Amino acid sequence: MIETQAAVLTAVNEPLQLTTIRVDDPEPHEVRIAVTNVGLCHSDLHYMTGTVPTDLPVVVGHEVAGVVEAVGADVASLRPGDRVVGALTPSCGRCVNCEAGHSTQCQRLDEVRRRATPAFQTVDGQPIERLGGIGAFSQHVLMRENALVRLPDDVPLQVGCLLACCIITGVGAVFRGAQVRPGSTVAVIGCGGVGSAIIQGARLAGASAIVAIDLDDDRLKAARGYGATHVINGGDGDTVAELRRQLGDGVDYSFEAVGSARTAETALALLRPTGTACLVGIAPAGTELSVPALDFFFEEKRLIGSYMGSGQAREDIAQFARLYQQGRLLLDEMVTRVIPFAEINDGFEQMLSGDVTRIVVDLQS
Ligand SMILES: NC(=O)c1ccc[n+]([C@@H]2O[C@H](COP(=O)([O-])OP(=O)(O)OC[C@H]3O[C@@H](n4cnc5c(N)ncnc54)[C@H](O)[C@@H]3O)[C@@H](O)[C@H]2O)c1
Ligand SMILES: [Zn+2]
Ligand SMILES: [Zn+2]
Repeated sequence: MIETQAAVLTAVNEPLQLTTIRVDDPEPHEVRIAVTNVGLCHSDLHYMTGTVPTDLPVVVGHEVAGVVEAVGADVASLRPGDRVVGALTPSCGRCVNCEAGHSTQCQRLDEVRRRATPAFQTVDGQPIERLGGIGAFSQHVLMRENALVRLPDDVPLQVGCLLACCIITGVGAVFRGAQVRPGSTVAVIGCGGVGSAIIQGARLAGASAIVAIDLDDDRLKAARGYGATHVINGGDGDTVAELRRQLGDGVDYSFEAVGSARTAETALALLRPTGTACLVGIAPAGTELSVPALDFFFEEKRLIGSYMGSGQAREDIAQFARLYQQGRLLLDEMVTRVIPFAEINDGFEQMLSGDVTRIVVDLQS
């Protein structure tokens, strides 16, 4: 067991508290990582504000990169000193869903994440929860070997961390979730970290038009840099009519990257017949959608969801790192600012302002 510094959420809607916690020794399949960088994702904020329920106290944070420090007895593929990014979705590799390539839907996830003793504890021995079994806002974390990907030497950790959530989620939703075809047309509602990654995925997939939709003109401007060919400010009137005016038709694929019923319903309305709407944003627990049933019959529309890139995080993260090395996937541009650990609460405030795509925390400074 070691002691380390972590940003702990002790009450919903309260700032994270930087404090000393205890980190258990790695179990046989686990690795202890010295965390260097974590991207601030809106999902963390959902737990912090209570829109997604969680047990307390908890360490949130999951868009994680760092350096392997210690390995469990059964770990064969990683060594101390390896630079890694983490995937939120460890899997057993053997259940029917894993065998079918749907590792994000592993049936034994709870079992895989279960530990004999709590990974994190307060200094007086009380257990602390970890978001997604990671808890990345801690200078040290424990992760399973099979949820980690080694990062090539020329991918800096401070941009590589984006691969762990917003990139795998957004680009994965394009390739594995909706399976966007070359030449097709795409709309993306919400152009934060995840939406910007979806826009880049659509560009890489060869979409012929990519319509970025957001309420913030600065985000729309940045979206053009990631590959958007058209922009619509969703606060200015009828988004569906404006998209049809600009393109002359609905789109083949729409993506929702905000997390609300209204924007999910808009995603379906933006489609042309036979189009696919893919929900990526996480709506508050209990949210229900109201969509016209006839859209599915007479127009053959499809409504799907995509979680953490739909299935093959480790393989995809390695491929996306290569696209970054080739200059085809923009990561440096997405990291608006790298902030010290002590300023993490300010970082969440900054995340909501328009000139930000992703804020990354440097946990060692
Ligand atoms: N499916 C998954 O696996 C997965 C993974 C990561 C994040 N998420 C979810 O994706 C969503 C986006 O995450 P993020 O980190 O990119 O958030 P973010 O805060 O960086 O971006 C959200 C964007 O949505 C815009 N927006 C807000 N309301 C809007 C509206 N009504 N119309 C158009 N745009 C609007 C904001 O201006 C902002 O640009 C969150 O709900 C997050 O929890 C899902
Ligand atoms: Zn995330
Ligand atoms: Zn499984």
